[in-house]
Formats: sequence, C-alpha cells, structure tokens
Amino acid sequence: MDSVTVITSGKGGVGKSTVTVALGAALAARGRRVLLIDCDAGLGSLDHMLGVLDHRVFDIADVVSGAAEPENAVYQCAYEPNLFLLSAPGTEEDVVSPEVMRRLVGVLSQYYDHILVDSPAGIGQGFLSAAAAARRALVVATPDPVSLRAAARTRQSLEEAGVRQQRLVVNRFSSARFRVQKCFSDLDSVIDAAGIRLIAVVPEDPLLAAATLRAQAAPERSPGALAAGRLAARLEGEQVPLSAVNRF
Ligand SMILES: Nc1ncnc2c1ncn2[C@@H]1O[C@H](COP(=O)(O)OP(=O)(O)OP(=O)(O)O)[C@@H](O)[C@H]1O
Ligand SMILES: [Mg+2]
Repeated sequence: MDSVTVITSGKGGVGKSTVTVALGAALAARGRRVLLIDCDAGLGSLDHMLGVLDHRVFDIADVVSGAAEPENAVYQCAYEPNLFLLSAPGTEEDVVSPEVMRRLVGVLSQYYDHILVDSPAGIGQGFLSAAAAARRALVVATPDPVSLRAAARTRQSLEEAGVRQQRLVVNRFSSARFRVQKCFSDLDSVIDAAGIRLIAVVPEDPLLAAATLRAQAAPERSPGALAAGRLAARLEGEQVPLSAVNRF
C-alpha cells in the first residue's frame, strides 16, 4: 500500500477535494491508473467533481455491506479515462471503520498505481477511517494562521494514526493577498507554522476551481493544473523545483 495517500486538513473548505481531483488528473495524465476514494461521509463531493453523479448507483458503504462488488462501485471519471472513483457513503452513520478500510484498500491497491483518499476536515471518525490505510499524507492548508494552526494539529493526529510521512500543500496562494495580509513574512514562516515539510504551492486559480466544479478537465496551462503536475511529479520522487510563488 506504498502508493496510498490521504489528503487531509485541519480546517474545512481549504481545497482538499479540489487538490485531490487535480492531483489525480495529473497522475492519470502521466499514464497512471488512479483511484480516488471519497471518505467525506454525508458530504462527499468527488462524484460531482468527476462527473459521475448522474449514473452513480453504489458507494463505499455498499461495498462494505456486500451489496455491491468493488468493481461495480468504482466509476470512471467523465473526462479522464485513467481516473476512477469510489464514492463516499451517503450518511455519517455509514462511515467505514479503520480496520475495514485497511482491508478494502489493501485489495483495491493491487489494481491501481495510486490511491488518493479524500478525508473530511478535522480529526473525527471520518479522518481516522481515511487515514487508516494511508502510507503518507498531504496536509492541505491555505496560507493563513488559522488554517496553518489546524494543519499543525492534524500533523499530531496523523502521527497518532501511524501516518508518519507527511507533506504540506499550501493552496490558494496569491502573492498579492499574502503581501496585504502581512500574517507571514515569507513562505518559510508558513512552513514553520504548520511544522510540515512543503511539497507544493497551488495558486489561487479561478480556472481550476471552475473546471473542477463543472466536472471538466482544468485547462492544461492553467496555473493550478501546472502546480498539480509538479505535485504529481514530486509525489513520484522526481526532482522538480517548487513553483515560483512570486508569479502567483
Ligand atoms: N486553488 C484554488 N483556487 C481557487 N479556488 C479554489 C482553489 N482550491 C479550492 N478552491 C475553492 O475553494 C472551495 C473549497 O474547495 P474544496 O471543496 O476543494 O475544499 P475542501 O477542503 O474539500 O472542503 P471540505 O472541508 O468541505 O471537504 C471551492 O469553492 C473551491 O472551488
Ligand atoms: Mg472536500
């Protein structure tokens, strides 16, 4: 399960699902078979973002209950043939236990090059379920003190859950906003606030946001898609420099 990554955050709404989809699409564009697992029970959004909402019948709870075979509950993304989705349960009561999650992901990981698990925000049952099978974590935060403090708290919870390899994704970065806010002097102090090694800076990008919300591929040359491409390469161990944030 080396290639199982949980995408998480302390604070909600910082872009976990957007980053999960963009990273999944970037890995798929590199020729990898990628499965996204939505663990946001009751509030799943990946079925909408991947364009499978209208024909989706089964979700992860149906697989766990035995009502569906895994292959019947995995749906192909509408715009990227190498990208697949196992949807979140419809209600919070159906959140999958960590033990069952480990077993299920163990089976599924034989068929995919990468599994990306989209976690709910915070450190509740959904987070524990999402983190259970992961070998590594991407902690998403926006570059503000509230989000970064929550990211630091998540780092501890990930460690308690046994996920020691953690990397920070700073999302929605805008150098103009960063300068006006004056919360941090530079990116190094952002990293220090989270206490997690940086792997990517994803810019504020209305094109990426709009495409994701409309279940379309982000324009290849959009700043967000380019940042996701670099993140994909770095996740696979390539020596790709971080994006030049002064251009965002
Ligand atoms: N890089 C970005 N540039 C512009 N908008 C973004 C970016 N990333 C995310 N957004 C926007 O931020 C909002 C929240 O994004 P998203 O749903 O991905 O967050 P989340 O962390 O998954 O939320 P939740 O905690 O509710 O699951 C959405 O409106 C999305 O379009
Ligand atoms: Mg989400």
